[in-house]
Amino acid sequence: MTTAGSPSSPKRLVTAALPYANGPIHIGHLVGYLQADFWVRWNKMNGRDCVYVCGDDTHGTPIMVKARELKITPEELIARAHAEHFKDFSDFGVEFDIYSSTNTDENRKFAEEFYVKMRDAGHTNVRPIEQLFCNHDKMFLPDRFVKGVCPKCGALEQYGDSCDKCGATYAATDLKNPACAICGSTPVVKPSETIAFKVSDFRDYLRVWVREHAPEEVANKLSEWIDGELFDWDISRDAPYFGFKIPGFENKYFYVWMDAPIGYISATEQLCKKTGRSFDEYWKTSDSEIYHFIGKDIIKFHCLFWPAMLKNVGFKSPKQVFVNGFLTVNGEKMSKSKGTLVAARTYLNHLDSSYLRYYYASKLNGQLQDLDLGLEDFTNRVNSDLVGKMTNLGSRGAQMLGKRLDGRLCALDGKRDAEAVKLVASAIARRKAIAEHFENRDFAKALAEVRDMADDANKYFDERAPWNLIKTDPEATRLALTATLNVFRQIAIALKPILPVYADRVAKLLNEKPYAWADGERILESGTIGEYEHLATRIEAEKVNAMIDESKPKTTEPAKTPAPKAAVPTADSGPLSIDTFNQVDLRIAKIVSAEAVPEADKLLKLQVDVGPLGTRQIFAGIKSAYDPKTLEGRLTVIVANLAPRKMKFGMSEGMVLAASDPDGGAGKGLFILSPDAGAKPGDRVK
Ligand code: 2FM
Ligand code: ZN
Repeated sequence: MTTAGSPSSPKRLVTAALPYANGPIHIGHLVGYLQADFWVRWNKMNGRDCVYVCGDDTHGTPIMVKARELKITPEELIARAHAEHFKDFSDFGVEFDIYSSTNTDENRKFAEEFYVKMRDAGHTNVRPIEQLFCNHDKMFLPDRFVKGVCPKCGALEQYGDSCDKCGATYAATDLKNPACAICGSTPVVKPSETIAFKVSDFRDYLRVWVREHAPEEVANKLSEWIDGELFDWDISRDAPYFGFKIPGFENKYFYVWMDAPIGYISATEQLCKKTGRSFDEYWKTSDSEIYHFIGKDIIKFHCLFWPAMLKNVGFKSPKQVFVNGFLTVNGEKMSKSKGTLVAARTYLNHLDSSYLRYYYASKLNGQLQDLDLGLEDFTNRVNSDLVGKMTNLGSRGAQMLGKRLDGRLCALDGKRDAEAVKLVASAIARRKAIAEHFENRDFAKALAEVRDMADDANKYFDERAPWNLIKTDPEATRLALTATLNVFRQIAIALKPILPVYADRVAKLLNEKPYAWADGERILESGTIGEYEHLATRIEAEKVNAMIDESKPKTTEPAKTPAPKAAVPTADSGPLSIDTFNQVDLRIAKIVSAEAVPEADKLLKLQVDVGPLGTRQIFAGIKSAYDPKTLEGRLTVIVANLAPRKMKFGMSEGMVLAASDPDGGAGKGLFILSPDAGAKPGDRVK
């Protein structure tokens, strides 16, 4: 590590993971972008040549499907997303040197170069595969676009790659009763070929690489993969696909994860064209350091496939991959229904970006743990530290000096006030530790030092009690205020990577140029200050609540009768939102066979045909109302996505809907629902 405070080279290239173009930026994404921004700003302020590169990740099936849904072209979709993302980032103070896209000519050129070099060096192979194809949507279905019954445990509604319930991993073609997640129809198996990158050819290189360039706990996990299941990686997808065509193939496209990280390179090239910098110095020679900031969910791509790709093409590899954990809110996973999955824009509709910047920084320590945004803690911490301790110090000091003492500062004369000199010296002495914490991305520790500075200064200020002192000794008051404002100035300098706008306002207040890190070596002992302007106000809890409310799914008119209990797969209380209702998969089913369960008073055992979803066994409590034989061949309505329930008599894989008197239950009649003529098994009921 270079010594903080005196860096000029090597130059640094910092990237943050490219966000997908099919959704908005939310507060979870911001954990990564903000911490990279803090670090880049630290580097720049400290005199380092450092650039921050990012852009949208624009290719792949989800983007193609979303564009179809919106009846626009993928190009239109990604143009909209680009504008929105860029604005969100700017309004959060995230300052990229370039915000590019993976759908550029430069990226196509580099993607082709990477591929051709892989192919020509013998690191690819072409293998036959079988994939699920939806005849209705006319596309191959990626794993996340197919749902069915887990081949291992029988759980319903599982994706095509792994089962949430039992953890099994499998091929989508192994799913039982597979259904296209877009249209619900049954996909067919189609043979095709896939191009794979033989990552295993780089096993020895990666074994060493991960130890040097990834965090230790990540390297441990990666080593297990490298020594064990390190597989060849499919880099092609069949048409239709939104992406770049693979040279030499008519209907094959690069998989989105192939050209996404290459986006770091193409964005750098665009930046260099714009600014006249040397591209080779970043990606080819040793005169630079590359750092990737990523979330823990995309480690494999950045720490296995990516270094192998770079090695093959002869580009330099990142010096370090920094990995952050996920965001939780109030200790839980972010949730749409609870309103804690807050879009960046929704946050900005209610709160100032500096609050979140401050709060995230106060919790980020450069480690891999998840970060919790406790909403009450967020409010309290910002109000007590940023506003109560730091801002009040500046506002009290500056307003009294401005109003009562012509705004003039004075020399810190140790003979007249030894404490004043000591106070400022102690703040300056903390700079070394703060610089080291910034360098190590331990923003939490850097801010703890800054808070300590503020505590010392507030104590001093209260001891001097300038509001009294001014009545008897204006010059002693001037000295006390000069000392206080000098500490406030140190606070602002140290806060600058986190709160750049705040720091610039303080510089303006003190009639100085925007701060560089080295400015903290000086003490301000002469000159006049400007007029105090607003710096930060307290967070009002109502605004936080309003933000959460705005993030909740919009509810429809309150239901007159309570929603049926069993059909609502959520813990939410109150009126049912349309989104929640839509989670219930109601389908027409044909009762193929029905028989009484002799050991149970109320149960009939039904086999029902649900069209594309296959045949299900359901135990229904309708014995008192129906002779089983009369049910066979009849159409009815079932809940198709209930978790299967193991009953004494076997698995029940759904629920038949039946009407009954709410007070009397089965005794007063029980009527299963039937559709009008024309409905067929598998039809959705909406
Ligand atoms: O996981 C994601 O959101 C991806 N869009 C990240 C891509 S990072 C890089 F490789 F482009
Ligand atoms: Zn389909």
